[in-house]
Amino acid sequence: QKTIRAALLGCGTVGGGVYKLLDRRKEELADKAGASLEISAVLVHNVNKKREGVDPSLLTDDFERIANDPSIDIVIEVMGGIEPARTMILRSLRAGKNVVTANKDLIAVHGSKLLSAARENKVDLLFEAAVAGGIPIIRPLKQCLAGNELSDVVGIVNGTTNYILTKMFEENMDFDAALEKAKELGYAEADPTADIEGLDAGRKVAILASTAFHSPVVFDDVYTEGITKISSSDIKYAKEFDCVIKLLGIARERQEQIEAYVCPMLLPADHPLATVRGSFNAVFVHGDAVDDVMFYGRGAGEFPTASAVVGDVIDVMRNMEYGCTGRIGCGCYRSVPVKQFRD
Ligand code: NAP
Ligand code: HSE
Repeated sequence: QKTIRAALLGCGTVGGGVYKLLDRRKEELADKAGASLEISAVLVHNVNKKREGVDPSLLTDDFERIANDPSIDIVIEVMGGIEPARTMILRSLRAGKNVVTANKDLIAVHGSKLLSAARENKVDLLFEAAVAGGIPIIRPLKQCLAGNELSDVVGIVNGTTNYILTKMFEENMDFDAALEKAKELGYAEADPTADIEGLDAGRKVAILASTAFHSPVVFDDVYTEGITKISSSDIKYAKEFDCVIKLLGIARERQEQIEAYVCPMLLPADHPLATVRGSFNAVFVHGDAVDDVMFYGRGAGEFPTASAVVGDVIDVMRNMEYGCTGRIGCGCYRSVPVKQFRD
């Protein structure tokens, strides 16, 4: 059986999960993909750090080794941040390597350009894990629902804030204590400002809007408001009205204009999104043919996120097998104006 070689850029929460999942499912994955996968390099900052289950001989802090190795066909970027991830992904695409990434910060800003580079080089650039962790949402929007005119994508796309709000509602826990717990559980970003101020959700909304409406929407186009101003009296009043407060990410297309924003909203307690508790995420989509569809599951964490990354890797391997990488151009073919909510 053929062996396809891949490099992992990053071996933290997500990268560690991807490595373990690929290792654990080696044989079944080979059956599904028609080839076996070998991780031949793992790029990290600190090559001396011990990493459970990872072959230390694969660790490197030298990206050039990966970029210049023609036997590496897939680069899995799970480092995060804009640079050096952007440069490394561009170099990989231009070198004819397929790329799978979980990097929402990067895709929300530079997604269009990176997708163009992938198309030009006839390679895949897949990013299912960038939105809502383990929930399949990018591929459904791009492929399964392609027969629809999509008008609404509304979701709870940040696990940390949903966890905090759930704890405040159900256990009267105060904001800071709930945030500390979310950090302990590994849901929050290294700097949780991105979570609690709605920036992380805003990046995901930009990616969802671009994918659903085939028109470029970048993070700067998304109005964001977080949950830091939610007080215990807001919670009390919401309960009096039989409502809950949820941080919603909303992308809508109305009369040839896109609206994209994130803010806390009151939802009736029996609304499907109101029942999404803890760190879970859910995305509700409306299309003219399908009507309403809702996607629900774990939006963060080692294995849920690894599940989405590994699914993308298998897709790339299948595309390689049939010589059709770059097949699913998920580019933006229109340019619809985005309503600006800021002054
Ligand atoms: P993390 O735990 O902080 O891991 C980052 C990894 O990248 C570490 O192994 C680090 O090396 C390595 N790294 C960072 N900068 C590097 C550089 N300049 N050169 C070489 N190595 C570098 O992050 P994570 O939580 O796994 O997140 C990874 C990506 O997945 C991010 O884009 C994040 O937004 C996305 N994501 C995360 C989740 C989640 O639940 N965590 C969910 C969805 C998407 P060292 O280990 O040596 O420090
Ligand atoms: N900090 C993010 C969240 C991680 O809480 O949803 C997953 O993107």
